[in-house]
Amino acid sequence: MTHAIVLYGEPVLETQAAKITEFDTPELHKLVDDMFESMYAAKGVGLAAPQIGIAKRIAVIDLSVAEDPQQKLILINPEIIRREGTQTAEEGCLSIPGFREQVRRAKSVTVCAQNVKGEPFEMTGEDLLARAFAHEIDHLNGRLYITHVSALKRDLIRRKVRKLAKAGEWG
Ligand code: NI
Repeated sequence: MTHAIVLYGEPVLETQAAKITEFDTPELHKLVDDMFESMYAAKGVGLAAPQIGIAKRIAVIDLSVAEDPQQKLILINPEIIRREGTQTAEEGCLSIPGFREQVRRAKSVTVCAQNVKGEPFEMTGEDLLARAFAHEIDHLNGRLYITHVSALKRDLIRRKVRKLAKAGEWG
C-alpha cells in the first residue's frame, strides 16, 4: 500500500521514533513493503517510517530507485557507530519537496542495525550511501536536514513553507 508522504510541519517528523521490539511479524513485513512502495512512488532513494506517519525506528534505502534489487536496504533500530571524513553536497527530502540545500556530512558512515528477523548487522557506506544513512537516521531522531543548514537559510525555508501552506499548496 502506498502512503502519502508526511510533509514538514507535521509533529511526527520532529519526534524521537520508538524502537522496534517485535521482529518477523506480518505487521513488520507489511510496514517495510509499504515503505518501499511509498518511497518508489515518490521517487526517493530513502524513507524513514515517520515520513509515512509512523514513529518507529525503521528506514529503507535504495540508491538505484527500484532498478537493482541488490541495493534495497532495510535498517531497523539503526545507529551510527563510526563516521570518517567529510563531504558537502546538495541534499533534499521527500518531506520538504521543492527545496535543496548544501549539507555537510561524513564521507563514510558505519551503521549497526537489525534486519526484519532482528538479526544485527553492520554496514559501511561511502559518499551518497553515507549521506543516506545519516539523513535517514536523523529522521528517526526527529531531525530534518534543514537543522544542518544556517539559521538564515532554515528560516527562509520555514517562511516559504508557511506561505505555501497558507495558500493551500503544501500537501
Ligand atoms: Ni528525508
